[in-house]
Amino acid sequence: MDLNKITKEVMLTREELAEKTRELGAAITRDYEGKDVLLVCVLNGAVMFMSDLMKEIHLPVEIDFMAVSSYGNSTKSSGVVKIIKDLDKSVEGKHILIVEDIIDSGLTLHYLIDNLKSRGPASVEICTLLDKPSGRKADVHTKYKGFDIKDEFVVGYGLDYAEKYRNVPYIFVLKEEVYS
Ligand code: PRP
Ligand code: MN
Ligand code: MG
Repeated sequence: MDLNKITKEVMLTREELAEKTRELGAAITRDYEGKDVLLVCVLNGAVMFMSDLMKEIHLPVEIDFMAVSSYGNSTKSSGVVKIIKDLDKSVEGKHILIVEDIIDSGLTLHYLIDNLKSRGPASVEICTLLDKPSGRKADVHTKYKGFDIKDEFVVGYGLDYAEKYRNVPYIFVLKEEVYS
């Protein structure tokens, strides 16, 4: 895998990601002590962040997975979100923490929050690794956030370019000429 050809720069190293994940896990551990927590991973992008983050949360949490599609074949979000894979368990009375890799327009999470709130949980909050505030179209409150980033095409640590490179263990910026 020759990533040099497509890399503009490394944005977040493994060490930086690990340190931030530890901080977020510690904050969640503190805030949710004694509560029934359900971590909801939004597939596919959040899979690597989820697996690292949950190791840093020192509470007996439950986990579940959801897959939604908002983009279809276009690169721009349509705002129409479809559930591809729903949760397997009931969320009633549980404190849901949605784990996401990135918030851009906010449309995916805006939909997901409304949808999950209608199922009777004790609370619904978000933990996102990355936030691109410049892309926002729908307002979402993020209780936990790793990093604010500029409007750049970021790949790795779960984030894909044309469904590939999710397995790269750090986050890099894709060269413009690769996708334009
Ligand atoms: C990406 C990303 C977030 C969402 C953010 O997922 O992982 O889930 O888009 O965009 P938004 O704030 O504009 O809604 P994508 O739909 O590409 O699926 P993936 O996670 O499988 O890559
Ligand atoms: Mn996603
Ligand atoms: Mg994607």
